[in-house]
Amino acid sequence: EKGGYAHFMLKEIHEQPRALRDTLASRLDVSSGGVKLEGVNLTSEEARSLQKVVLIACGTAAYAGMAGKYIWERLLRLPVEFDVASEFRYRQPLLDEHTLALVISQSGETADTLAGLREAKKHKARILAITNVVGSSVAREADDVLYTWAGPEIAVASTKAYLTQLAALYLLALYLGRARGEATWALELARELACAPSKVEKIFDLEEEIQELASNLAPHEHAFYLGRGLDYAVALEGALKLKEISYLHAEACPAGELKHGPLALIEDGTPVIALATQEDLLEKMLSNIKEVKARGAWVLALALEGNEAVAQEADRVLYLPRIHPILSPLVSAVPLQLLAYYVAKARGCPIDKPRNLAKSVTVE
Ligand code: F6R
Repeated sequence: EKGGYAHFMLKEIHEQPRALRDTLASRLDVSSGGVKLEGVNLTSEEARSLQKVVLIACGTAAYAGMAGKYIWERLLRLPVEFDVASEFRYRQPLLDEHTLALVISQSGETADTLAGLREAKKHKARILAITNVVGSSVAREADDVLYTWAGPEIAVASTKAYLTQLAALYLLALYLGRARGEATWALELARELACAPSKVEKIFDLEEEIQELASNLAPHEHAFYLGRGLDYAVALEGALKLKEISYLHAEACPAGELKHGPLALIEDGTPVIALATQEDLLEKMLSNIKEVKARGAWVLALALEGNEAVAQEADRVLYLPRIHPILSPLVSAVPLQLLAYYVAKARGCPIDKPRNLAKSVTVE
């Protein structure tokens, strides 16, 4: 049932090009930049009347949503509020009928997410769900549903669900952008999106190298993930993957915040994973890499092919297939999943069922 893989997690990581293709294929019209999303039925008028988006999700699904915040705000010029469902539901959020509540849940049964959905409904927000389970509670209670076609996810650590949630967020950006009538970027985004699955496939060429890098990381007790913009959202997900399956303490930090505290923790040999895929922020990231290197950090950077300057600063670089910077999470998240997997393997951890965690959190 693991299809020859040692763990479900590794199998599911490798299923991502297929999961991405399934989630995108029948919905994306590359020739027009349009999308056909069965289950999503906002009229142009409804889409135009939206004044803000609130995210309702937990864990990895929330980090997909955080990437969505950067993506939607940039493309749709619509404010997106990010917090996790367990905070959202108790902070007396301000919403009304001009609010879109974006609910993201692989299982569709997470207690805090469901409670957040109900809270948003009480305030007459429009509920739009992204979920992987047909007929789940979230799917049933939402006004509009976009399914991710990841297939069943068995490993506790989410991988292919995350990637397809990202894909759903791009599809919805196209949908809302066109419905709101301001999508000059749609055609280019649709074309680039269609190429993403084959770019994800190329990441597996790096797998052996990642395994070797993981053996450097495995003896440590702490690791830092740095990023700016979209890379910060991916850094949070990368750090979560590492801590949940390898029990190594990992912390994601917006690179610009280093000087405001976290830099004090960097000492000789501290592993730092620096995401540097956002070309408009590259110079800033390079100076952050120098900053931690000067304190003795060992830096593994992730950059898009062609950005040779990164190799001059970092100890090691994983070069990822070139992709539109707004789509970079689709390629940068995958090596971080593999890194977490191989670190956990080197440390002899029970990868598919990490201690203290359950696949579906239906209690608060
Ligand atoms: C981490 C992980 C969890 C889930 C979270 C939400 O790898 O899997 O953080 O993402 O418990 O679960 P769903 O998406 O089912 O609501």
